[in-house]
Amino acid sequence: MLTPAQCAAYHRDGFVVIPDAVDAKTCRALHERALSWTRDADLTQPMAAFSTVDHQHADEQWFLESGDTIRLFFEPDAHSPDGQLAVPLAQAFNKAGHALHRDDPLFALFSSQARWQQLADALGLRRPAALQSMFLYKAAGTGGEVSCHTDHSFLRTEPSSVVGLWFALADADRSNGCMWALPGSHREPVRQRFVREGSRATLETLDATPYDLSDAVPLEVRQGSLIVLHGHLPHFSHPNHSARPRPAYTLHVIEADATYPPDNWLVPSWPLPLLGTPMWRGAV
Ligand code: FE2
Repeated sequence: MLTPAQCAAYHRDGFVVIPDAVDAKTCRALHERALSWTRDADLTQPMAAFSTVDHQHADEQWFLESGDTIRLFFEPDAHSPDGQLAVPLAQAFNKAGHALHRDDPLFALFSSQARWQQLADALGLRRPAALQSMFLYKAAGTGGEVSCHTDHSFLRTEPSSVVGLWFALADADRSNGCMWALPGSHREPVRQRFVREGSRATLETLDATPYDLSDAVPLEVRQGSLIVLHGHLPHFSHPNHSARPRPAYTLHVIEADATYPPDNWLVPSWPLPLLGTPMWRGAV
């Protein structure tokens, strides 16, 4: 599904946008499924907020034990200082993670499609396998900032292999917090790494040089577009201050034969499913 020109763009820029990768009906169905989790959320659970700005979730069990299930994470501003929910439930959540491709039949079916394996093959990944998945709610008015980062910082393999498949489930533009990226910066060394030590994880700085965000470009895309992100590419998004949500589904892929260091925060409790094979654990 990738043309030679799209492959060349990916290797040159560190990303490529593929319009019309997902039909509108499927986009709506995935969004609706993820919203249903927010309506059914058990608010008696001590759920964590998720912030890429201060990583306040990093020492919370709710986050560190979410690698093999589906858990919801609040927006950092979802609660008032007295602990009460300050926004409607549909706008309260930042994301759901991190095994939608294993634990939900709809997301598993979507993630298992052979064309994602063909795409990964075209990019040169050997035996691409699904490691992590997330639904990013980026709700109207409350969707928070995602600070500039590389995915390899959070999902390391040796050699490096992580690639992000980021599906826009609604139109994403500057007004509702679209993705931004630094073209070509995937050739620079990764500057941070998120390291797990027991029940904690911390973000270590390898190079304190700040990214020059003046070089960043907005990746404004229509509903159904797929943005493929190199694991070393710095990317980020601004808060969503608009009246429109910016839902996205992201599937992170690694090479199955690469070494996966045990100090990654995510510790899979099953063999990683290869792309193009059934993923729903209820089916195997
Ligand atoms: Fe990312």
